[in-house]
Amino acid sequence: MIDPISGFSKLSKHEKIEWLHSTYLKDSENAYQILEQYWNQDQQLQKLHEEFTENTLSNYYLPFGLAPNFLINDYRYAIPMAIEESSVIAAASKAAKFWGKHGGFKAEVLGTKKIGQVHFLFHGKKEKLFAFFEEVKPVLLKAVQPLVKNMEKRGGGVLNLEVRDKTEELEGYYQLHCTFETKDSMGANFINSCLERFAETFQEAAKENSAFSNTEKEIEVIMSILSNYVPECLVRAEVSCPVEQLADHHLSGQELADKFLQAIRIAEIEPYRAVTHNKGIMNGIDAVVLATGNDFRAVEAGIHAYASRNGRYSSLSHAEVENGIFRFWMEIPLALGTVGGLTGLHPLSRVALEILQRPSAEDLMKIVAVAGLAQNFAAVRSLITTGIQQGHMKMHLMNILNQLKATPEEKEALTKYFKKHNVSHSAVEEQLKLLRS
Ligand code: MEV
Repeated sequence: MIDPISGFSKLSKHEKIEWLHSTYLKDSENAYQILEQYWNQDQQLQKLHEEFTENTLSNYYLPFGLAPNFLINDYRYAIPMAIEESSVIAAASKAAKFWGKHGGFKAEVLGTKKIGQVHFLFHGKKEKLFAFFEEVKPVLLKAVQPLVKNMEKRGGGVLNLEVRDKTEELEGYYQLHCTFETKDSMGANFINSCLERFAETFQEAAKENSAFSNTEKEIEVIMSILSNYVPECLVRAEVSCPVEQLADHHLSGQELADKFLQAIRIAEIEPYRAVTHNKGIMNGIDAVVLATGNDFRAVEAGIHAYASRNGRYSSLSHAEVENGIFRFWMEIPLALGTVGGLTGLHPLSRVALEILQRPSAEDLMKIVAVAGLAQNFAAVRSLITTGIQQGHMKMHLMNILNQLKATPEEKEALTKYFKKHNVSHSAVEEQLKLLRS
């Protein structure tokens, strides 16, 4: 049994690795060197990365790529993406190229409200609680003034504050349900700071409220935290074109549209398919969210909750054909920032935002939604025409060649060969063997 270690975070980076090595990596030949190999030569840059989080040993790279030719609301963007999956950027670029020739993407922000809640227990008379809340509301809003001052200057702040009765679902459970506008920042710190101040002030005021009995004065705050479910921070992305312009491979435009609509219907009604369908959308979304230094876990959680909002997990995207026009669209909740957090701190996020022409949070919402829709279009089109493996394995070829330690000359020869042949792990292995013999 391995002994627990205390004070690990206080050790230097070298000491941490030494401990790791002697405890878990005794048999490893080169783990130490590999961890070290990924340190940045620029000490300052390395330090910056180490200070993002605790117990940093090394840096974990992901490819940072670019999908050009995205025409969004008549502006042509090149979209930076941080992603390891081989075919994602290629698919996004292909969809961008296609829609660039067919009117481009249209995107619109439908709302920017964010939610935070103080969850508390109150075991007393409901009416007294509601009357107390109305009385104390101006005091609560005044208490957060020092926190909201700057946000108000930028046009944001607290939009609404109400008390919600949840006692039917959990005995004694109520919430302060708060709505915020955080403009170009994602707003997590701002919202959480406001909520904690609300909670504190609310509890203190309850203690001094003469209308409350002694038990009623003891409001128990369980927690104060923003919600990553933001159905009113919503963006819509859409493409459309005459059906005949969809013609692809061996399918006419009408045939492709019919099959595409069926694929979407399946994702709308079948959760097993919907999850994979939406995963394809998230391939595009996460890659841009990550590249721009935003919180992809928050975005993932919020979007999947939204996909289940009607009681069954369903497709985020939808399609229709009306009067010969194919329309494909998606509405998703997205809480993003273009100032604050990692966005201005990580040098690559800063570059990503520069590539996107320093967008506002609303602009970024549109760009991210479009990346998701493009990815979904490319995936579904492949699935209903050639199948996904053809393109996927072509892109995956380099991973297989690297795994098999192919030399640059071998890579060149086999890339050429597999332009005309189906890629599989065994086929690549066989051709490499042939080449080497
Ligand atoms: C793979 O990363 C994503 C797909 O599975 C999405 C889909 O099935 O729609 C290709």
